[in-house]
Amino acid sequence: MAALAKRLLAHVENKTTDHAGDVFREPVANYTSVEKWERERQKLFRESPLLLGLSGDLPTNGSYRTLTVCDVPVLMIRGDDGIARAFINVCRHRGAPVIQDERGESRRYTCAYHAWSYDGAGALVGLPAADAFEGINRCDYALRQLALEERHGMLWGVLTPGATIDVAAWLGDDLDREFAAFDFGSCEWFVSYSIDAANWKLAMDTYFEAYHFASLHRNTINLITYNDVIAFDAFQQHQRNGFPRRNVLELRDIPETEWEPLNHMSSIYKVFPNVAVTVAPEAVLISQVLPGPTVDTSITIQSTYSRSPIDSAERRAELDQRARFIRDVILEEDYFLNHKIGAGLSSGANEFLTFGRNEPGLHHFHRMVEEFAHR
Ligand code: FES
Ligand SMILES: [Fe+2]
Repeated sequence: MAALAKRLLAHVENKTTDHAGDVFREPVANYTSVEKWERERQKLFRESPLLLGLSGDLPTNGSYRTLTVCDVPVLMIRGDDGIARAFINVCRHRGAPVIQDERGESRRYTCAYHAWSYDGAGALVGLPAADAFEGINRCDYALRQLALEERHGMLWGVLTPGATIDVAAWLGDDLDREFAAFDFGSCEWFVSYSIDAANWKLAMDTYFEAYHFASLHRNTINLITYNDVIAFDAFQQHQRNGFPRRNVLELRDIPETEWEPLNHMSSIYKVFPNVAVTVAPEAVLISQVLPGPTVDTSITIQSTYSRSPIDSAERRAELDQRARFIRDVILEEDYFLNHKIGAGLSSGANEFLTFGRNEPGLHHFHRMVEEFAHR
């Protein structure tokens, strides 16, 4: 982190920023094509490992979290043995959701329709009027399991039944090492908000550059972070974007051994294809962008986790203020405009959107979408 802070400090001192080699043009059709969108849903969201949450989403044995990704209702449970597992949240009797709330804790997971119940490992452990089902083998009626790996305090899954998962390979050595250095495993979940936006890639585009801070975020982010200064690093298909905070020049007066880099910059990982992970000294923010039911819609689940125990009213108030601030910026500034950009895409004004050399993260993201979904 100190090396990243040093780069950002130098950028601010020299009035520079990381640059991509050339201007990049992304065809507008790539945001509106239903064919492309379907391929992305399949290749990126159903067949690739996804960051589904942090270990703190399942804080105790028996706790669960549900979310729906590209029509796959996912149920994550931490079993009695402490192991986190993922299942398709669909009852094996006649297909009702087994769990209907987003989060909770239980010993048994009982379907609302006819009360078939499952344990934390997905086994069918009870059904009323069992004699009416004589002859069925209960083992054939366990919840459909999905590959889930808990690594570095993060929950990763693949949403195709029968698929396997290898998170270390998906991250690559460098990002795997970087994530290992953060104590994500001790983060406590605080709150999640769901926010609508336009096409999922258009929503993702809002997270990759600092070029819009002084204009769109004039009275919010721009007061905290420099405009149009970024340190960009690719980690295979993923990336890290560093942004200097307004107090970064203070680092000149502090011996490097005493630096607390995250007090002077923001470090945001973009975990391919759809998650932004912001690491701050006190909190971690996970923004999961999920394609909606149509090509021009998406939903972002924005979750705030505390890096220290949430053990006082004061701590709760701090976290609440932080979570609402980010939610409001995304809702009222980024996604407010995102809906309008989405509505204008098919107007014929643009055949492509243009990413400047000062927006290297966008270049990399769209190249990776092309490579992983469309080749
Ligand atoms: S559908 Fe779940 S118990 Fe019948
Ligand atoms: Fe923004």
